[in-house]
Parts: sequence; C-alpha cells; structure tokens
Amino acid sequence: MTDPLVEIKDLRIHFFTDEGVVRAVEGIDLNIKPGKTLCVVGESGSGKSVMALSLLQIIHKPGQIVDGQILYHRGRVAGGQFSQNGAVDIASLNRKGRDIRSIRGAEIAMIFQEPMTSLSPMYTVGNQVMETIRLHEKGISKKEARERAIDILRRVRIPKPERLIDEYPFRLSGGMRQRVMIAMALSCTPSLLIADEPTTALDVTTQAQILDLMLELQQEFNMAIMFITHDLGVVAEIADDVAVMYLGNVVEYSDVDTIFNAPEHPYTQALLRSIPKISATRQPLDMIEGMVPSPFRRPGGCPFHPRCTQALASCSTVVPSLTTLHENHIVRCLLHEETGEEVPRG
Ligand SMILES: Nc1ncnc2c1ncn2[C@@H]1O[C@H](COP(=O)(O)OP(=O)(O)O)[C@@H](O)[C@H]1O
Ligand SMILES: [Mg+2]
Repeated sequence: MTDPLVEIKDLRIHFFTDEGVVRAVEGIDLNIKPGKTLCVVGESGSGKSVMALSLLQIIHKPGQIVDGQILYHRGRVAGGQFSQNGAVDIASLNRKGRDIRSIRGAEIAMIFQEPMTSLSPMYTVGNQVMETIRLHEKGISKKEARERAIDILRRVRIPKPERLIDEYPFRLSGGMRQRVMIAMALSCTPSLLIADEPTTALDVTTQAQILDLMLELQQEFNMAIMFITHDLGVVAEIADDVAVMYLGNVVEYSDVDTIFNAPEHPYTQALLRSIPKISATRQPLDMIEGMVPSPFRRPGGCPFHPRCTQALASCSTVVPSLTTLHENHIVRCLLHEETGEEVPRG
C-alpha cells in the first residue's frame, strides 16, 4: 500500500453558533495518497467543504477544529523518497503562524466553484498570478515572474497568454477564469490540490475540458487531488479512490470500482440508485428518500439510521465504528461490524 500524503485522524470540527453547536465534521478518518485522485461525495451539508478548509487551517469563527489530527507528510510524492518523520499536524498549527503559511498555497493549494472568490476584480490576471508566484518565491524579479506567469497560463491552455495576462478577470468567460484559478493554484507546484466543486458552474463541454486539463497537470506535476463533487458522473471519470460522506462522517471509502460495483454502505447504495439509468449520469444527488436532518439535530447512533432502509434496532443508539472489509475498503455501518475487522487506531 502507498504511504499516504495526508492522514486525517478522528477529525472533529464544530461551529459554535448562537442557535447551538453544529457538528459539521464529527470524526473523519481518511487518507490522501500521493499522486492520486480522491473524490469526496455526499449530499449538500455533509461537511465536505468544511473538511477541505481545515486542511489549510482556514476554518473561521464560530468554527473550530475541536479534535483530531491532520498529518501532512511533507515531501512524500508518488514513487519518490521521503523522510518517515517529516509529518506536520496541520490541525495543531496556529492559523496565522508561519508554518501553515508556508504550506498554504505552496504545498497544498485549493480551487473553488466560483473563481471570483479567489480572483480579485481589481487587478489584472497577470498581477494576481505574479503575486502568487512572488509570494512563495522571494527574490524573483518582476520580469521573471511575468515570464513564469505567461508560461503557467499557457500550460493551462489559455490562448494568447501574453495578451490575456493584462486583462481583468471580469472580461473572461467562466471557463477561462477557472483556468486562471488553476494556473494560480499550480504556480507553486503543490503536492496536493484541493478542488471544491470546481466545475459545477460550468457547461458540460467546458467542464470536461477542465477535468481533462486537471488530470493532465496531475501527471505532469505528480500531485494528489482531493476533488469534492456531488456529481457521480465526474467521480466515475476521474477518481482513483472515493470517500462517501454523510453528516460529518466518512461512511464508506474504497477504490472507485468497488464504490460503483460493490458498495456496502446503505447510503452509498442509495446514492447510486438515485442516478437515473437512462440519463447521462450527470444528476445532482437529490433523490434519496427523506431529507438530510437539520445540522442542529444530528441523529444519535448512526446518523443515517432515520433514512436507512436496512436499519437495525441498535442503529439508533450505537455509533458504528470503522470496519475494514478488504484492503482499501472501509465502511462505517453496524451491518458490517460482525463480518469485518475493526480499523485499528493510531
Ligand atoms: N460558518 C458556519 N456557521 C455555522 N455552520 C456552518 C458554517 N459553515 C458550515 N456550517 C455547517 O457545517 C455543515 C457542513 O457544511 P459544508 O461543509 O459546507 O457541507 P458540504 O460542503 O458538504 O455541502 C453544514 O451543516 C453547515 O450548515
Ligand atoms: Mg460544499
């Protein structure tokens, strides 16, 4: 088995709001492998974005990481050398400290659904790409930064980058803005790129182009991708591994073939059933029986039990633990606790 680049261990993130505590992430264990694509799927509100933001320590008040570890094994790349004890626990770093600032953007980069959340309307594309480059590479001259920016814009297949570099973001199409954001994210060759629903707002053709581009750049830069989506069609196309999230937990994790062909968690099975067979599989996940409970009323026991067609009496009181069914296939469900092996902690 590949040694992970990132090991998330029993991560808990709560929001302390005036109305009560939202347990947005309630015990996530997950590995991100170097050079591979991990897709994270689940209905809206399952904690995908909050989990992603925590990897960069950008959870804002009233949110807080209340427990767990995010072990980042610096320098672990696919097939490369790494030092065993080079792990940093991102969860324990000061949000404003030097350590996380040296990781953020440079080693772990993130792109969002709406590029304008990362691009400023006030500056030209070139200024913004150059600033990212210069932020992480002190001492590089303005001229060099501009050349590097043009080069990286060319790598994301932007036509005539030496002209586009002086444009303002609002003058670009959605697809082009998304490319600029990818260029910014890649300008420091991160070892992990987190993409939070980056193609959801794009038309299908542009979406396919951006996905192809990301996979190509992944090969070239040898980076891991954590791709968050609610589109199972996208998952089928790009994932190596898949984590299925429900109400702040990863309920099932495996390689993409197992998730599609032999899913074991009733929630994963329901998600797959929710894709109409006749369509081109590009459907949002909104057809499962029942509603996602209010974040303030997270059900006890297994949080999925009120909607689960296979629930046992004990599912409403017993919190299921992680069970290994096969190598690389983990499920959190009481139906499997007797047959599988409990995942050892540590
Ligand atoms: N700033 C916030 N204040 C209070 N609750 C929040 C905040 N941000 C996220 N949450 C809650 O955290 C939960 C997970 O949200 P999110 O990670 O955005 O879900 P997803 O990305 O899977 O749709 C939701 O119940 C949401 O209401
Ligand atoms: Mg989200």
